Amino acid sequence: MFIPEELQHYAARLGEAEFAARMAAEQGMLDCRGARQGKGLFRLENKIDLYGLIEFCLKLSGFWNRAVRNYFDIQVVKNEVRLKNLPPEFDGYTILQLSDLHSDLHPDFPERVKEIIAPLVYDCLALTGDFRTCTFGEHSGATVATIDILAELEQPKFAILGNHDFLAKVPVMEAAGIRFLLNEHILLRRGEAELCLIGIDDPNFFKTHNLERALDGAPPDATKVLLSHAPQTCTMAEEKGIDLLIAGHTHGGQICLPGGYLIMHDRSAPRHILSGAWREGKLQGYTSRGTGCSGLPVRLNCPAEVTLHTLRRG
Ligand SMILES: [Fe+2]
Repeated sequence: MFIPEELQHYAARLGEAEFAARMAAEQGMLDCRGARQGKGLFRLENKIDLYGLIEFCLKLSGFWNRAVRNYFDIQVVKNEVRLKNLPPEFDGYTILQLSDLHSDLHPDFPERVKEIIAPLVYDCLALTGDFRTCTFGEHSGATVATIDILAELEQPKFAILGNHDFLAKVPVMEAAGIRFLLNEHILLRRGEAELCLIGIDDPNFFKTHNLERALDGAPPDATKVLLSHAPQTCTMAEEKGIDLLIAGHTHGGQICLPGGYLIMHDRSAPRHILSGAWREGKLQGYTSRGTGCSGLPVRLNCPAEVTLHTLRRG
């Protein structure tokens, strides 16, 4: 299998086995051009034009225009997280999460996101994967649109890959100042205090995540915040002593029944952790409904969001 030279050194960051598995999976996606990743209800994608059917139903029922308006009506959600072991220096530390941007789905989307996040106050950005609309093929449109969204922001920017993302976008985005965490961690510092920010590769489709590797060398007593594209890593995260897991992937269902009841999800995680704040044992978590959309620029009963996670001691 041919691996471009500029990607070969990522084996040392992702892990040799995870790098080989990702490269093989990416090549498989390219070889079966048009094959979908669908699981759960999304298995229908492999048999019918699911998004064409949804568009037809929305137009027939008169919901289409409202659903497109909802796509641009991005909400700012505030999530306060209390952590017993948080150093006092990090009390109030705020992470702005953007998830599932799928930045190339609509040409007006990047400007809309910029408008929403420009007035927000936060300490760092966390991008929890899925920058592209398609699951294979050209990525440059989404990469350019994502870099455009973030270009004016001065805060540190951290990112992980989702199930729509190929490794090829990482060198371009890192050159633009977005630091990917590829089964890696980084220590954020305030004075003498440290906060451990961990990022793993996509656990949903590529399954090239390795939390053990990502935690290698992390201070055992540090407060640990994990970026995981999908929330299905909650059990292993709790076992490894993660304090807060921040995820996306589910889009909160994107098209829901009144009250936000999910109709469509891939059954990769229990229903109660598919949207919003949740707890599994000692682990606290949050699953974003997503900032962008998948397939179609439409949402019903499931607002798009950017999320401000404020860490509090106690
Ligand atoms: Fe997504």
